[in-house]
Amino acid sequence: MSPTPSTQGPMSEKPLLRTLAGERRRCPPFWLMRQAGRYLPEYRAVRAKAGTFLDLCLTPDLATEVTLQPIRRYGMDGAILFSDILVVPLGLGQAVSFEEGRGPVLEQLDEIRDLSRLRLSDLRERLAPVYQAVRQVKAVLPSPVTLIGFAGAPWTVASYMVEGGSSRDFAIAKRWAHEESTGFQQLIDLLVDATVEHLSAQVEAGAEALQIFDSWANAWVEEKSSVSLRRWCLDPCRCIIATLRVRHPQVPIILFPRAVGPHIALFAKESGASALSLDDGVPLAWARATLQPMLPLQGNLAPRLLVEGGPALATQARLILSELGQGPFVFNLGHGILPETPPEHVAELTAIIREGPPA
Ligand code: CP3
Repeated sequence: MSPTPSTQGPMSEKPLLRTLAGERRRCPPFWLMRQAGRYLPEYRAVRAKAGTFLDLCLTPDLATEVTLQPIRRYGMDGAILFSDILVVPLGLGQAVSFEEGRGPVLEQLDEIRDLSRLRLSDLRERLAPVYQAVRQVKAVLPSPVTLIGFAGAPWTVASYMVEGGSSRDFAIAKRWAHEESTGFQQLIDLLVDATVEHLSAQVEAGAEALQIFDSWANAWVEEKSSVSLRRWCLDPCRCIIATLRVRHPQVPIILFPRAVGPHIALFAKESGASALSLDDGVPLAWARATLQPMLPLQGNLAPRLLVEGGPALATQARLILSELGQGPFVFNLGHGILPETPPEHVAELTAIIREGPPA
């Protein structure tokens, strides 16, 4: 491991940044994917006031407020900007909406020629309210807390763009990838550039760490070779990370290639990420022996256990702390918090993490 040396004064006060630079702490820092959301009554109140979900994302005062809600309640070490991975297609000019009970709905791109409608040059202007929210959060965030910016990985975002929304089997996206791979590569390349712009703009506005969500990387693991996984997931993420390293060398980048099984080792070796976020399918002892010597890890409590609470939650949280807490480690979930999670269970988990691993 070659931890990035701290060159910035303020970094020394932030446990999350220290861990991402390769330091082990007895009590690991923590934050939770989807820590702002429907499980919190105060979120539901602001959400009701905002109108649509996108109005909430694009109104800086409201996005700032919901970003801070979980920090006030639980004191996480990281505040992830309240936004969504689908603001990037919006920034490129594709119509995106969120419909109650239906999830995201995107104006479908049905042919490669549709790509010419997408414009990278307007992205920063269209997404200006997102960057304004970053500035506002940064201005009021308690100094030990790290502000995390994020984006979806090109494959995950492209799947929504060509499917027109969520998909079970990614049939259309996979057909493009296999049968119209030149056009699909153009879309992925455009998303590499758009993601670099979107993440850079968040850093310029005050984000101190970044996470890239490749939530649907698992779509490629049933194929026997890792050729498609490399082409559509690993390579685009590596390009994004390499470019960001040049622009913002001090900003750590966490990569979350979800549910890729043992292929996650490829991402550890080749992506250039500062840290990897593990889904709950990754075996702890294997991660500790194989991945953690290469880079800091984050994860990986099953979101279901946070719904359940009690002894099942406590046992698994302590196991994670004792296995992965031996090296540089950020406690988190293996995927986003479920809306039915009782807020008191998040308080239980916070207490367990703050106790640290058994001595
Ligand atoms: O982690 C955080 O607290 C920051 C906010 C955040 C949201 N979405 C808010 C959100 C983050 C980091 C995301 C990422 C995201 N969005 C991903 C990748 C991570 C993952 O969960 O796999 C994906 C695939 C999306 C796309 C998306 N956004 C879907 C499929 C949906 C609908 C399903 C759902 O949960 O409702 C959303 C909506 C969304 N994004 C909500 C929130 C809080 C719920 C909308 C609401 O309040 O009505």
